[in-house]
Amino acid sequence: MSVVQSCFRRIPYLVRDIDVFRISSFRLLSSTSAKFSSHGQEKKLFTPGPLSVSLTVRQAALRDLGSRDVEFISTVKFLRSKLVQIAGVSEDDFTAVPVQGSGTFAVEAVFHTALPKPKGKALILENGAYGKRMGKICETLGIPFRLEGFAENSMVDVNKVEQILREDPSFTMVAVVHCETSSGVINPVEEVGQMVKKHLPNCVYFVDAMSSFGAVPIDLERAKVDFLVSSVNKCLQGIPGFSYAIVKTEQLLQCKGNSGSLCLDLYDQYDGLEKTGQFRFTPPTHCMLAFCQAIKEFEEEGDIVGRANRYKENRRILQEGMKKLGFEEFLGPEHKGYIITSYKFPNDPNFDFKTFYSKLNEKGLVIYPGKVLNADCFRIGTIGQLFPEDFHTLLSCIKEVCKEMNIKLPVS
Ligand SMILES: Cc1ncc(COP(=O)(O)O)c(C=O)c1O
Repeated sequence: MSVVQSCFRRIPYLVRDIDVFRISSFRLLSSTSAKFSSHGQEKKLFTPGPLSVSLTVRQAALRDLGSRDVEFISTVKFLRSKLVQIAGVSEDDFTAVPVQGSGTFAVEAVFHTALPKPKGKALILENGAYGKRMGKICETLGIPFRLEGFAENSMVDVNKVEQILREDPSFTMVAVVHCETSSGVINPVEEVGQMVKKHLPNCVYFVDAMSSFGAVPIDLERAKVDFLVSSVNKCLQGIPGFSYAIVKTEQLLQCKGNSGSLCLDLYDQYDGLEKTGQFRFTPPTHCMLAFCQAIKEFEEEGDIVGRANRYKENRRILQEGMKKLGFEEFLGPEHKGYIITSYKFPNDPNFDFKTFYSKLNEKGLVIYPGKVLNADCFRIGTIGQLFPEDFHTLLSCIKEVCKEMNIKLPVS
């Protein structure tokens, strides 16, 4: 065997060695006091993102590929096709357009692309921070919009949507968030979409399914969705780096020349990909390779159903355990979401979120601050590469931390 051949044979081992070396040195440098994490190596992210991903997904990124490489071009084609398939729609009607950057880049790209200037006008249905961010985007871009607010602990009200559309039929887009990740509320996107198209058949319907796509089913045809966005580092568990829009092709083809942004133009991005198979600007090659592995693992787990089952079980364990510890959820029991849960701060003079967070972090467990406006909360995500045993660990560490902080259990 030649030296080159033997080197290549060793590559998988080298990759594994390097990864383990990196992980253990990271641990030595950053968390010498870490007492526990379920693999004994890294932090577990109980967050809305960035999320924990598998080692095999990360390993898949350890390879360089040129953007014009036929392997990379076919990878992009494969991923675009897979995304449409996961969305449960046909490539005859829909297309997937990847966008470099985080989820907000895709949200902003939709507003740029789908609203014709100067006649576009958006109705944004919001019940939390991510809906409000859509309003901020429109404000920044100078797009006329109405931000219709609903309570943070309730769903968007379809009857109210109907009333607005009856009163003002001038909207050219209605936008809503599927899982409002600031609270965990799942909005009735199918009912909203049907209402929109009943009153305004030509109005574009845009769903931000950032934190739900791949784990909370949406029937895109029934919901009459024109644009849906999500990001690789959410329920499909890729490494962060790009987001994507799943778009009704017929709609997208009418959007040529709409965008006031060169980068955030979904029509141009689509056109480039269709004509050459390549991105217009430097693509996230490593991230896309990792995403291929993530899709493979998603399929092995049983697609949306399999992934949803694991997340539901994570949430069930969390919910039961936190209830025993006395923590109260921000949302009422009518909300059945299983992506993220907001918990109210306990009413104990010794509770301080910063300390609570830091003590859990020292144990290798990362939770997240709250994002609702009308209550002091923290959030625990149930998505990403997290399993029931991770939630048992989290619960026993929360109990331990409460004791260390002299917080009376069960909390009030
Ligand atoms: C519903 C929703 N929309 C938009 C975003 C923004 O995504 P990013 O932070 O990746 O830009 C998020 C992030 O968690 C989200 O949950």
